[in-house]
Formats: sequence, C-alpha cells, structure tokens
Amino acid sequence: MPEIIAGRGRRKLEHLRFFQLEGNGTNGLEDVHLIHQALPELDWQDIDLSCRWLGKTLAAPFIINALTGGPPETIEINAALARVARRTGIAMAVGSQRGAIENKAWMESFTITRRENPEGLLLANVGAGNSPEDAREAVAMIAADGLQVHLNAAQELVMPEGDRSFRGWLENIKDMVNILDVPVIAKEVGFGLSREAALQLYNCGVRIFDVGGRGGTDFAAIENKRRDRQVASLAYWGLPTAVSILEIKELSLPVEIVATGGIRSVLDAARALALGAKIVGAAGHFLKILLERGEDALVQEIFDWQEDLKRICLLTGCSTPAELATRRVVITGKTKAWLEGIQQRPLRQV
Ligand SMILES: Cc1cc2nc3c(=O)[nH]c(=O)nc-3n(C[C@H](O)[C@H](O)[C@H](O)COP(=O)(O)O)c2cc1C
Repeated sequence: MPEIIAGRGRRKLEHLRFFQLEGNGTNGLEDVHLIHQALPELDWQDIDLSCRWLGKTLAAPFIINALTGGPPETIEINAALARVARRTGIAMAVGSQRGAIENKAWMESFTITRRENPEGLLLANVGAGNSPEDAREAVAMIAADGLQVHLNAAQELVMPEGDRSFRGWLENIKDMVNILDVPVIAKEVGFGLSREAALQLYNCGVRIFDVGGRGGTDFAAIENKRRDRQVASLAYWGLPTAVSILEIKELSLPVEIVATGGIRSVLDAARALALGAKIVGAAGHFLKILLERGEDALVQEIFDWQEDLKRICLLTGCSTPAELATRRVVITGKTKAWLEGIQQRPLRQV
C-alpha cells in the first residue's frame, strides 16, 4: 500500500508538471458562429448571468473543473481554487478523491476546499471504477453538492501503471445514483462523450453530462510523457467538445450538459451555451493562470469572463445565458462535416 500511495502522489504531481502539453487539435467551437443582433433592445443592467444549479445560485454558469488533491503540495492549490470560486461566485470540482479515501493523511487537500468556501457549490470526484461506498465517502468528505464520476479509459490505457479492466463501470454508476442523495455527473477527461455513452449513462439514471471533450488538456500526451515507449495511436483520439455537445443534444433527452474540454475564452463558453450547455467549465486554462500569475489574476480572469459574457448576451439579444440556446447558430467546418457524416446506424442498445 505505501508504494501505491507514493506512486499515486508522484503521478498527481507529474500531472501538474505536464498538463500544458497540447496538440490534439481544436475543441471544434471555432465552427460555431453566434449571430450578431444590431437592435438588441436591452440595457446592460437587463443582463442577468446568475443561474440555479444543484440547489444553489451561481453568479454565472461557470465551473472550475476537477484538477487536483492528494499529496501535501496540492493543499495550497486547492485552497486557492476554492477561494477563487468563492470570490467569483462560481462552482468548483475537486480532483479525484480516491487517494484520500485510501490514505486519510491526504484528506486535508480536499477538506480545505469546503473550509475556504463554506456556502459554495462544490463537487466531489471519484472514478467509475470506485465503489458506491467510496463515492459516498467522497461526497461526505467535502459536504459536496454533487458527485463527478470520471470516465478516463483512454488515459488509463496510456498510463504505464493504469487500469486495464473497465468492466462494471455502469453497474457502479447505477449504484452511486441509487445510494447518493446528491446528483451524479458523468464526466470525461478530454476525449468526449459519444451518443452511445450518453445513452448508457442515461439508462443508469445519470442526468448530468460533463462532456470533457477533445481540444484542451490531452491526457494521452501527458501520460506519454511519463512512459519510456510512446503510445502514438491516441493522438487526435476522441470527440471534440462541440461535437460531443451536439451528439448528446441529438438524443433529445431531459439532461443537463456541462461543456468542458479546451475552453480558454468566454467566446468559446458562449458558443457552448448556444449549443445547449447549461454550465461551462475549464480546468487547464484556469490552472495555468493560477500557477503562473496567482490567485488574484485568476479572480480577474473570471470576472472578465463574466463581463464579456454579458457583452455577448446583449449583442445576441439575450437577457440570460440560457437564452443563448434558443438563438440561431451557424455551424461550419469539421463540426458540420461530422454531423453530416454520421452513419445512420442504430445506437447500440445497453
Ligand atoms: C493537472 C490536471 C489534473 C486533473 N485531474 C483530474 C482528476 O483528478 N479528476 C478528473 O475528473 N479530472 C481531472 N482532470 C481533467 C479535467 O477536469 C478536465 O476534464 C480536462 O482537463 C479537460 O478540460 P480542460 O481542457 O479545460 O483542461 C485534470 C486535469 C488537469 C489539467
């Protein structure tokens, strides 16, 4: 056990070192065009960015997505992220809590987030291979408002010490949905959720999908950096964020979408909202600002996103971000080609 813990600690710190490796293409949101309205008939003060999610009110529909936790070096990062979420009124998810469930000495890096942000919207995080009891412990550890269950098969397959068994995930998720008294959010980590995956999850009772699409943090590249012999086949693997949102929307299910994966600007955030996302999140972009320029700079970035989202809402004639999803958008380029190119085969039944 001590060796497993030391190995996991090393991996967490290596992720923080290598997370900026990119190169797996764009998130596809550059193909989504909002339509400017020259006569918005709105005043600046008419625009209301606030939104209700998981029983709480956010100042804007944004989330600092799952990043870290575990070894002592991560305590200050999570504390800073939690303060940023509190100061800007947005949601936050912690990184995987598995390490702290197995090694209680690591709990501090997670519990600090609730102490720094007692009223805020906080999400717990475990992998789909974890047991429902682990999930319950993760939620209780930070008095979470919801649980993210990460689906990271592609990452594990490149990780030298990664899992090779992916059976039983759906059963675990179904049990988590049934035993927890907070909502379960299924979350990819940068390879996107397909229509098939969304349907499998929906049939397990999941109603919130974090698409975690391709185009930002690239865990194939990060894990390759930790290997001697490279796995080349997973470069450009996965669904870009725009495509993943559209894949799920096509199902017309009563679900909520969290748009993440390569979101680095508020224009991308607005485009994702226009495709039908309820919440938009970033992990790598926010972490980069925090580590390079500090906590105040990240607070400023998120306040800037809030102001800019107001500008975009006003110029598309929307008084709320949710209204963006009711406006026309134009889809071009590779994203359009993807939609047109989907083979009309029946979805695999689960
Ligand atoms: C350093 C780092 C560590 C991460 N650790 C986790 C994790 O523990 N659990 C998880 O669900 N996602 C984790 N992620 C994935 C992010 O939450 C997100 O899904 C992914 O980075 C794609 O979003 P992005 O392009 O905005 O970074 C991590 C990301 C980074 C950059």
